[in-house]
Amino acid sequence: MKLVIASGNAKKRSEIERITCRLGIDIVPLEQTIFVEVVEDGRTFSENAAKKARAFAKANNCAALADDSGLCVEALGGAPGVMSARYAGDGASDEANILKLLEAMKGIRQRRACFYCHMFLALPNGEPLTEASGKVCGEILETPKGRDGFGYDPVFYCPELGKTFAEATPEEKDRLSHRGKALRALSVKLARLVPHS
Ligand code: IMP
Repeated sequence: MKLVIASGNAKKRSEIERITCRLGIDIVPLEQTIFVEVVEDGRTFSENAAKKARAFAKANNCAALADDSGLCVEALGGAPGVMSARYAGDGASDEANILKLLEAMKGIRQRRACFYCHMFLALPNGEPLTEASGKVCGEILETPKGRDGFGYDPVFYCPELGKTFAEATPEEKDRLSHRGKALRALSVKLARLVPHS
């Protein structure tokens, strides 16, 4: 069965593709995917992931995998959370979101934060097949470091790596990231559904 990724975020897609490729799973290329506008108005990552996966599965008439993810900062009561992509407003750039986060955290010494990812795999009729989540915790730096990755990676310091996710190699990030953990938790069911060609 074919599998589409329910996301137009190029960097997120490329992370999902490189992890699923390593797990031996083929994905329908972006240009062959029928896109649907999904309003991400859920209160949780899992609600939003389910909504996206179901809509893409029905529109493409094949299995769909959705990732809803974000950064939760303890000292900000879990913000930006489900609002991570549009923390500084609709269509905000990664730079604008980081700037807003660093402003909000000015003078705050307790800088613990976690990335969460919820993955939802839907069948062609939109019914759920399986879902899983992943989490990685670290600290928010006062200034960005590194040029790789996306989103809040330049300010997310990962203690296990001793550097930010934006300074990590793709392999290092995938091994520890919320997304890598969630995908590996789904991998057996995913591989059974979408055998490698
Ligand atoms: P979504 O498309 O609503 O799931 O938005 C996810 C947002 O959370 C992204 O646009 C980033 O701002 C942030 N985010 C999620 N995962 C990561 C990551 O691995 N690194 C950095 N930022 C992330």
